[in-house]
Amino acid sequence: MSETNKPIIIGCDHAAYQLKNTVKAYLENRGVEVKDVGAFDETSVDYPDYAAKVAGSVAKGEFERGILICGTGLGMSMAANRYSKVRAALCSDIFTAKMSRQHNNANVLVMGGRMIGDILALEIVKTWLETPFEGGRHQNRIDKFDNLSCCPK
Ligand code: RB5
Repeated sequence: MSETNKPIIIGCDHAAYQLKNTVKAYLENRGVEVKDVGAFDETSVDYPDYAAKVAGSVAKGEFERGILICGTGLGMSMAANRYSKVRAALCSDIFTAKMSRQHNNANVLVMGGRMIGDILALEIVKTWLETPFEGGRHQNRIDKFDNLSCCPK
């Protein structure tokens, strides 16, 4: 299975339900298996619950990559990055999406459904899927922040 065709776990809150469906359809059209963990309608929900489903699953290694979408993308990215080994990147433009893969090996893509339109969102997803990690010095840097322990035991 090519890097770009690996299964993806996706989640959203009520503010991004429509965009999540658009992204899911795009991925399925590309032949990517998608696990949708909700939300499944526009009833108000709490975004950390969905960030936990996606980031928790990526952190456990059940999925290599995930996508999270809320209104701004801010809450989802803050919550997802609480999980070790999760590198969630909030992307609102194509350059950031590209760099999030090349330099940061982002394994969770986050977008704001109230911030960007469908066409840009799908271009961001395409770029994020298709851009490889460069490794090398960037791997060393990721290793450093993966080993940070900010919370005293
Ligand atoms: C929901 O109103 C909104 O707060 C949420 O979607 C997100 O933008 C949070 O960061």
